[in-house]
Amino acid sequence: MDPVTNPFAPGAGTPPPELAGRDHLRETVRVALERVRRGLPTKSVLMVGLRGVGKTVLLDRMRDDAEGVGIHTLRIEAPENRSLPAMLAPELRQSLLRLSRNEQAKALAERALRALAGFAKSLKVKYQDIEVGFDFDPEPGLADNGDLEHDLLALLEAAGIAAQKAGTALAIFVDELQYVQEGERAALITALHRTAQRRLPVILVGAGLPQLRGLTGRAKSYAERLFDFPEIGALPPAAAKLAISKPAIDRGVEVAPEALDLIVQETRGYPYFLQEWGKHSWDAADASPITRNDVGRASVAAIAALDESFFRVRFDRLTPAERRYLRAMSALGPGPHRSGDIAKELKREVTSLGPTRSQLIAKGMIWSPHHGDTAFTVPLFDEFMHRIMPDEDWRA
Ligand SMILES: Nc1ncnc2c1ncn2[C@@H]1O[C@H](COP(=O)(O)OP(=O)(O)O)[C@@H](O)[C@H]1O
Ligand SMILES: [Mg+2]
Repeated sequence: MDPVTNPFAPGAGTPPPELAGRDHLRETVRVALERVRRGLPTKSVLMVGLRGVGKTVLLDRMRDDAEGVGIHTLRIEAPENRSLPAMLAPELRQSLLRLSRNEQAKALAERALRALAGFAKSLKVKYQDIEVGFDFDPEPGLADNGDLEHDLLALLEAAGIAAQKAGTALAIFVDELQYVQEGERAALITALHRTAQRRLPVILVGAGLPQLRGLTGRAKSYAERLFDFPEIGALPPAAAKLAISKPAIDRGVEVAPEALDLIVQETRGYPYFLQEWGKHSWDAADASPITRNDVGRASVAAIAALDESFFRVRFDRLTPAERRYLRAMSALGPGPHRSGDIAKELKREVTSLGPTRSQLIAKGMIWSPHHGDTAFTVPLFDEFMHRIMPDEDWRA
């Protein structure tokens, strides 16, 4: 098939041609946003899942959905080395400037912009990466305490009051929430707790790796009551097939049922892999319909592409000790694995491996589903480790 018209879209954060199997989650969030706008008790939503399951594209789609019904949104992606205040401040400024164009809410939005000025000025010492324009002078005593927890609370409260006056809601979308520092995450939770208590229309829609659930509970004990944690994972077979067949049919191309079965089998329904297999199956086929044989030939290219991108970018960031740790895990199978078993595989003491394990968790490569258990955050990473570090090499 002509590669020029290939609809499939493997890539981190790249919107798929068909966002399959996520309607119920979109509906859940739609309801939450509508409730929060009306001042009804509502939980914030933190979506958790492994790499490549489609958290980022879903978050973006939910944001579009929200904007479409007149909700004010902010979008932040937490990188590993920037502070939450630094990321939040410029986004919040944009939202408040927009709110200030609403006649009803103008005065309150300007007050929130004064809060933002006080917030940024007083926290600048601690978070030097804050860069934000000032539209108004700070108001003494408003969000300028210099303590993040206190000031963020005052800031979001002021913003919530302005949004309420405008008859809208403020929805804060944060991706990669597991990378936000613990103290900053705690401050965010405290602020959301306050706005929830006051029934102000502020809500967080976040996404992150599975460890996020534990991290959130650790930051504030009442967090469990403030958030829902829907899990997002591989697509069930019917949705996985739709993710492939729908974009093809829209372009006049059929995919044979046995071809779809093989794609589901090879990808286990993981969205990133579906896009990769879709793309290579399209390219491998000479004409419609795409056959099981085409998919079979595409598998080689799809795996090679994953090894060069999806898996490789993660592997390249690892130290030799971290690679050996993951290789030992993969020798034991897909997991999760007990720390003791991994140590035995490496002929080491569990305690001596603690720092390596912690580093891998911090890098978002592994997580702990239960105390003492370790699992990969990247689907099928165990098979990749076998390919990239063949047996003969790593035990030496
Ligand atoms: N529901 C879905 N149906 C089909 N493809 C999807 C779906 N969700 C995500 N994808 C595809 O999967 C890949 C990874 O998506 P992304 O949002 O970056 O995942 P994550 O943020 O969980 O790592 C992208 O190529 C995207 O187009
Ligand atoms: Mg993502």
